[in-house]
Amino acid sequence: MKLMVIGSGGREHAVIRKLKESPSVETIYALPGNGGIAADAECVDIGAKDIEGAVRFAKENAIDFAVVTPDDPLVLGMVDALEAAGVPCFGPDKKAAVIEGSKVFSKNLMKKYGIPTASYEVFDDAEKALEYVKTAPLPTVVKADGLALGKGVLIAQTREEAIEAVKSIMEDKKFGASGDQIVVEEFLTGPEVSVLAFTDGVTVKPMVSSMDHKRAHDNDTGLNTGGMGTVAPNPYYTKDIADKCMETVFKPTIAAMAAEGRPFKGCLYFGLMLTPNGPKVIEYNCRFGDPETQVVLPLMESDLLEAMQACRNGTLDKTDVRFSDKHACCVIMASDGYPESYEKGYEITCDAGINAQVYVAGAKLEGDKLLTSGGRVLGVTAVAESLPKAIDAAYSDVEKVHFGSAFYRHDIGGRALKALEN
Ligand code: AMP
Ligand code: GLY
Repeated sequence: MKLMVIGSGGREHAVIRKLKESPSVETIYALPGNGGIAADAECVDIGAKDIEGAVRFAKENAIDFAVVTPDDPLVLGMVDALEAAGVPCFGPDKKAAVIEGSKVFSKNLMKKYGIPTASYEVFDDAEKALEYVKTAPLPTVVKADGLALGKGVLIAQTREEAIEAVKSIMEDKKFGASGDQIVVEEFLTGPEVSVLAFTDGVTVKPMVSSMDHKRAHDNDTGLNTGGMGTVAPNPYYTKDIADKCMETVFKPTIAAMAAEGRPFKGCLYFGLMLTPNGPKVIEYNCRFGDPETQVVLPLMESDLLEAMQACRNGTLDKTDVRFSDKHACCVIMASDGYPESYEKGYEITCDAGINAQVYVAGAKLEGDKLLTSGGRVLGVTAVAESLPKAIDAAYSDVEKVHFGSAFYRHDIGGRALKALEN
């Protein structure tokens, strides 16, 4: 089969590597891919949001199956356009992708169907929102309704910060039209867990759980990033909690989307917080997480393409979805300064003897040299029998990867290790 994968990050690199293991895969095109992905797929210079370009390419190249990975094209309706052109896709259509595209939609969905989440208020008027945050309990969480490159959540510790957050989103339009409406919600506490789940709109099969590390620097300090590293499974996510999430969150969410006439097919990402009052949904994403995917897919034992086709064809109940009981750790190597400004154009070199998987996110080829071109440059993922071994193996291979201005966190998996000790 000829496949095309939309996107250009480490997540897409991990998806492509896994898809290559499927016996029926002949060729994979990446639109647009990146300099590192070029080692595993044919990169095509069509942007991830270029719906017309993707449809044209798919038709011209007789693509058998398309995997639309990033949020933007999903929310814009790339799956609808490809399917209309006769190209079978993995990924939700526009109507279902709204579960990530609008926080107001997802919060109202959870309220209507009794899915546990933080209590909240919605505002489309800055004055009313400002009035509200003057008396709302602190800390207060202010969220832009629409997509904001993962930066649309502001946690205000003080009254002043809450007012500033509302003003920056609704008046200064820090995230453009994504801030026309906001959600102001209750601050929750507890360990966070990411669960990616395959679903065909009826059946839901969760993948192995994982733990992201969102802050830029060690000990969870510094700015929020797209994610600086992950481990899987997440030790806080016990069998009991998994069973509870299945009954109170996963199944009800899939049923709610179907009842709303928006059946969700693809990978649904549940961002959960294990609060003292039980697991609650922090956010839904309509796609694989990044860098969660870089630890989850290396642990997948069954065939990824088969699972993706089953999600699209409505046969997930009959499809084998299996994960190993090993552990994985992914350490993201970034350009110093990320998530703000950083330098790029440095050559990436690797010493011999790397055992880990290196998933490339922000790099371009110049001749035969791989040069840094993004904030998150690459992820180094090791799989081992235990979490400590996976962490050690990942860090030992990080030492073998070199580029100018590189930085990474030194404590990926540290919190997970502590949880295991308790
Ligand atoms: P999001 O972009 O929705 O993933 O939010 C980013 C991060 O903000 C989450 O991973 C949480 O750590 C934090 N967060 C979001 N909502 C809440 C909440 N209601 N209470 C506490 N922390 C939150
Ligand atoms: N790592 C968080 C996300 O993919 O949204």
